[in-house]
Amino acid sequence: MNSLSPDELRREVAKLWWYHSIDLGNGVVTPGVDNSPRKLQRVQLPASLKGKTVLDVGAFDGFFSFECERRGATRVLASDHAVWHGGHSEASKKGFELARRTLGSKVEDMDIDVLDLSPERVGGQYDVVLFLGVLYHMRHPLLSIEKVASVTKEMLILETAVDMLGVKRPAVAYYERDELGNDPSNWSGPNPAAVVAMLRTAGFKRVEIVAGTRSFFFRFARAAYYKYKRNFPFWAALPTDRIVVHAWK
Ligand SMILES: C[S@@+](CC[C@H](N)C(=O)[O-])C[C@H]1O[C@@H](n2cnc3c(N)ncnc32)[C@H](O)[C@@H]1O
Repeated sequence: MNSLSPDELRREVAKLWWYHSIDLGNGVVTPGVDNSPRKLQRVQLPASLKGKTVLDVGAFDGFFSFECERRGATRVLASDHAVWHGGHSEASKKGFELARRTLGSKVEDMDIDVLDLSPERVGGQYDVVLFLGVLYHMRHPLLSIEKVASVTKEMLILETAVDMLGVKRPAVAYYERDELGNDPSNWSGPNPAAVVAMLRTAGFKRVEIVAGTRSFFFRFARAAYYKYKRNFPFWAALPTDRIVVHAWK
């Protein structure tokens, strides 16, 4: 359990760069760049995970792992590699570790690349697997989905950026440099049809988009905003959005 006073905890939190906004109690919320509570609503986790095992692939600071534990999962394994392995200029695994200590959480952790996932490496298959915000970081999107499928027993919850929204057939945009969001760690932008098709190819029998793309007008306004705010290329941002998909074996 955490033995820090709220003021000490606040000081420890302030020393770190946070991706997730995690409520650590006593009025301390980590100042994440991500609006994690809003993402949680969009992702639509099962209300109860009682008796389930959960693998959170690309867990970062662990917001979703801790939430699954809170919803009753018997075992949660948080895995990550890029950020936990020094691949980020400011973030590290320290946020996850501080949050876990403070919450008195029993979430387990493993530093493992998506492409190394297998039942042998992660101790079997998990009832529910989260693959949130990771697919577009993958150079090999289908292979990544196949690796994630190999460790999924029942249900996969996938959240991702999507691109090429004008194209109806399955298509994947490839980012050689930093075309998606000026971020060189982004490599592939599948369209929703490609996400669904790749999940089926990887063996999921039922695939549902539970949070789809927003209207053209919404995306137009957002692309204009990001051009003004962060100088993101307007025409590259316009055909992009994010989706959430639930898939069952
Ligand atoms: C945008 S963050 C998403 C964090 C969290 N899943 C969420 O949705 O809020 C992407 C995460 O994927 C991880 N990641 C990127 N490439 C990875 C790889 N090849 N293997 C494992 N994790 C990876 C990063 O370290 C980072 O934690």
